[in-house]
Amino acid sequence: MNCRLATVQDAIHIYNIKKDLVANTNFFITIPPELNSQEEEFLMKRNFDNGGATFVMEDEKKSIVGFIFLSKGSRQRVSHVVNIGMGVKRENWSQGIGTILLNTGIEWAQKNSGIKKLALGVFSNNPRAIKLYEKLGFKVEGVKKDEIKLNDENLVDDILMGLKVN
Ligand SMILES: CC(C)(COP(=O)(O)OP(=O)(O)OC[C@H]1O[C@@H](n2cnc3c(N)ncnc32)[C@H](O)[C@@H]1OP(=O)(O)O)[C@@H](O)C(=O)NCCC(=O)NCCS
Repeated sequence: MNCRLATVQDAIHIYNIKKDLVANTNFFITIPPELNSQEEEFLMKRNFDNGGATFVMEDEKKSIVGFIFLSKGSRQRVSHVVNIGMGVKRENWSQGIGTILLNTGIEWAQKNSGIKKLALGVFSNNPRAIKLYEKLGFKVEGVKKDEIKLNDENLVDDILMGLKVN
């Protein structure tokens, strides 16, 4: 396994992982018709230009098995905050890949003195992700009650978490 900065050639592989996760889990704000393969490359480029980063994890065969998207706030007053989005291929869950990706993101942020904080929102029906974030030091900063409507119309909370990095 090797964790490295993503290139635009990785965008399609990130899209494919996302597509499967979006279709088969209840953990993303996006639903399948809202996902767009062209948009992935555009978002990645724009994010790099804006001072953010994307890292990918590749396996022994150099296939991409996970990603972390670190996006910097574009407005001055939130330019010290980096928002996180991440995903690991379902067949590779619980092998420590998410932990490595998130640690890599934290280390990247720590090296950028302008970044003061990492932030994310996680649905309350996603204990695996919540456990991962808490394990690496993220704290709950707020809970948006009943913010998310799942496919079965059930409502879950959006849990806002943060980590001070510099
Ligand atoms: C969340 C996600 C990125 C985690 O990646 P991962 O590679 O499985 O993470 P890791 O294996 O490094 O760590 C997962 C941790 O959750 C724990 N865990 C697994 N199932 C769990 C459960 N049902 N409840 C609580 N904790 C659980 C594991 O034991 C592990 O903790 P440990 O290292 O202390 O043992 C991955 O599951 C994923 O892509 N999920 C779908 C997309 C998603 O939810 N993205 C985040 C949206 S905010």
